Amino acid sequence: MSSLTDVQAHALTEAQNRIQQDLLTALDAFAIPEPLKGAVHHAVMLGGKRVRPALCYAAGALKQNPNAAAVRRAAVAIEFIHCYSLAHDDLPCMDNDLLRRGQPTCHVAFGEDTALLAGDILQSMAFEILGSRLFDQGPAVEASIVLKQMQILATASSKMVNGQVLDLQAEGKKITQDALENIHRNKTGALITAAVMMAAVTLFEGTDQAIPKLREYGQAIGLAFQVQDDILDIVSETEVLGKTAGKDQQVEKSTYPALMGLEQAKAYAQDLHNQAIGALAYFGDKAEQLSQITQFLLSRKS
Ligand code: IPE
Ligand code: IPE
Ligand code: MG
Ligand code: MG
Ligand code: MG
Repeated sequence: MSSLTDVQAHALTEAQNRIQQDLLTALDAFAIPEPLKGAVHHAVMLGGKRVRPALCYAAGALKQNPNAAAVRRAAVAIEFIHCYSLAHDDLPCMDNDLLRRGQPTCHVAFGEDTALLAGDILQSMAFEILGSRLFDQGPAVEASIVLKQMQILATASSKMVNGQVLDLQAEGKKITQDALENIHRNKTGALITAAVMMAAVTLFEGTDQAIPKLREYGQAIGLAFQVQDDILDIVSETEVLGKTAGKDQQVEKSTYPALMGLEQAKAYAQDLHNQAIGALAYFGDKAEQLSQITQFLLSRKS
């Protein structure tokens, strides 16, 4: 029998196809001058697992959704922010990486100045898309829902930046598990949780029990995602990862395997996945897509 990583989760493959088209449509809505346009396309269109859009769609599928266009915009916006974070993360003044998604990093291909600005414009474009009527077929989505989506994305993006600062400060240092958890929850967990929550607010009122359940799910899967990223840096290979393996050890990043050892880090990732699956139980069969993606995330090799 093929494993999930051979075939990939059906929900993820579907999402990858959908988001590719929507990202292109969204980018085409902006008049960006060259060479910035080339750099933005490089940062957004070339590969990537598209986990955050997939989580957005899967959460949006928890019930019949009259606000599907708002979920599509959220999926584009979160991937724009993620791609911006990667372009900046790779810069020489940050992680100084040469390879991303199997391609030269944005600054290697376009220069530091253009890569920096590609990240900047992607951040603004994410919010423009959220506030636009792109993909609308029926009546406009309620303004209160759009506002909530913007607040969720803005808060998570700030957390990502704060986490990145702490990550850089922690290089070459021995930090506590609490401090490391704080870094990972901010630099990576926040955006992953936001992917789920930006879809959740299109479906559920703030008082609905579904909201805290989905937040719990997003936070568990978000922390697990970075623990897994730390593990893969050690156990995977550059060709599979599409980014330079072994890089964290080279620059003495504070990571889970460095802190607790590889085997314990793997066990911790498994625990967090169990927590995530536990939170999904509330939704029963309706969470099929979310649970497929969750399984993929634990078994992923890149
Ligand atoms: C990499 O994210 C950066 C982290 C937050 C760990 P992904 O592993 O989602 O990267 P892509 O989008 O698939 O390239
Ligand atoms: C990145 O974490 C988190 C971001 C906010 C982009 P890493 O620095 O570990 O991500 P990779 O390994 O370069 O993808
Ligand atoms: Mg980094
Ligand atoms: Mg990095
Ligand atoms: Mg990493």
